[in-house]
Amino acid sequence: MEPLKETQLYCPFAYIDGSWVAADGGEQISVYNPATAEVVGNVPRLGASETHRAIEAADAALPAWRAMTAQQRGDLLLKWYDLMLEHQHDLAILMTHEQGKPLKEAEGEIAYAASFLRWFAEEGRRVYGETIPPAKADQRIVVTRHPVGVVGAITPWNFPAAMITRKAGAALAAGCTMVLKPASQTPFSATALALLAERAGIPRGVFNVVPGTAGEIAGAMTESPRVRKITFTGSTAVGSRLMAQAAENVQKISLELGGNAPFIVFEDADLDAAVEGAMAAKFRNAGQTCICTNRFLVQSSVVNAFCEKLAVAMHSELHVGDGEKDGINIGPLIDEAAVRKVSEHVQDAVDKGAELMLGGHPHPLGGNFFSPTLISAAGPEMRVASEETFGPLAAVFPFDDEDSAIEMANDTRYGLASYFYSQNLARVWRVSDALEYGMVGINTGAISNAAAPFGGMKASGLGREGGHQGLDEYLETKYLCMDIS
Ligand code: SIN
Repeated sequence: MEPLKETQLYCPFAYIDGSWVAADGGEQISVYNPATAEVVGNVPRLGASETHRAIEAADAALPAWRAMTAQQRGDLLLKWYDLMLEHQHDLAILMTHEQGKPLKEAEGEIAYAASFLRWFAEEGRRVYGETIPPAKADQRIVVTRHPVGVVGAITPWNFPAAMITRKAGAALAAGCTMVLKPASQTPFSATALALLAERAGIPRGVFNVVPGTAGEIAGAMTESPRVRKITFTGSTAVGSRLMAQAAENVQKISLELGGNAPFIVFEDADLDAAVEGAMAAKFRNAGQTCICTNRFLVQSSVVNAFCEKLAVAMHSELHVGDGEKDGINIGPLIDEAAVRKVSEHVQDAVDKGAELMLGGHPHPLGGNFFSPTLISAAGPEMRVASEETFGPLAAVFPFDDEDSAIEMANDTRYGLASYFYSQNLARVWRVSDALEYGMVGINTGAISNAAAPFGGMKASGLGREGGHQGLDEYLETKYLCMDIS
């Protein structure tokens, strides 16, 4: 591992109430580098009792944090933002080691993650209320906005920093405090962020990090009446369980869950641009993002040309290996189960008649590496049509006309991201309207942006993160009715 310039960023502890702590019973979680299977380090495995203490700390810190002006909170978030950029390379090294994504991509994620802190630092000053024309002459109606309170956040391994700041930036800017459970595969990115939050001057108790046993921590968060909001990014199965648990205390909930993104290429598309977008939308993070294309839907008249161009781009541009090495842009998958799932999807598709054009097997490097794979002539009966692969498999499904493309695109329980390429303006509006997705990339394969509302429809979740909408998720609305007679 390339040594960190600032070794203190490697924090093998939990962070509760401004203190760096171990688990009560001393239990630990080992964190592995998915590229080498070497141990990166150990963090405490916390459970329910430590989580309850973190919730108490967040609750105790709430009145003072909430009472600060939005600008004071924003100034602290901007300091946190500056520190993240100052330590961008070190944070990226930590991330590459525990998550596997190539170093350049990890640096990109740190910049993306920091951008949420800046966005919400600024947006927090625009939490406006409203005055409403009353029903009676001697009445006045005023609407005010207030932080919801203590937030329990649970974040995934695929974006170890950005999924934290997208939640924490919004929550803290709104005046909430937070207890965060990071993914057990990637806790060091979270504890490094906590260290920088501390250095930025964010008061103790406002941001707490509790690595540990998911079921116990989530249970403590949902059973505590002090926690007023749960926010989760991860699978639909876990999200719906959390939603049921949160119902007990009627906690607010935001869920950013699974996807099955279609990427439609119409015959009037600029095919070279579509291939460029396809590479971005499919192979970011080795295909392990919730918004990665899962299904390429390509009009029959251009399907061969598209597949050939995509095969050339994949062959020449994708370099698999340890993300720490120069020139690598496809790192390992997170674990063996991920490799197994991609293998199964490929095998299932080939068994059912798909044509294998590239790859199709674990990479010769072994371990968690998988060769970028292209299959054509995919069909609706294949697992890749309905299940999220979460790996570097590009599956191309041909279609005949616009109506069937839309029907195929919407034929899924998910509704997170979608993409399409067309140069026909009327079609651009028609298709944008018809897609049942929270996000639509039009002639682009890169849609992530702190200024925009990220989130899905149907089984892809509830609520939005980023944009001004991301702040609403952490605010209560209060209406004041005044009699002035
Ligand atoms: C995700 O995969 O959940 C997040 C992707 C992004 O923010 O771009």
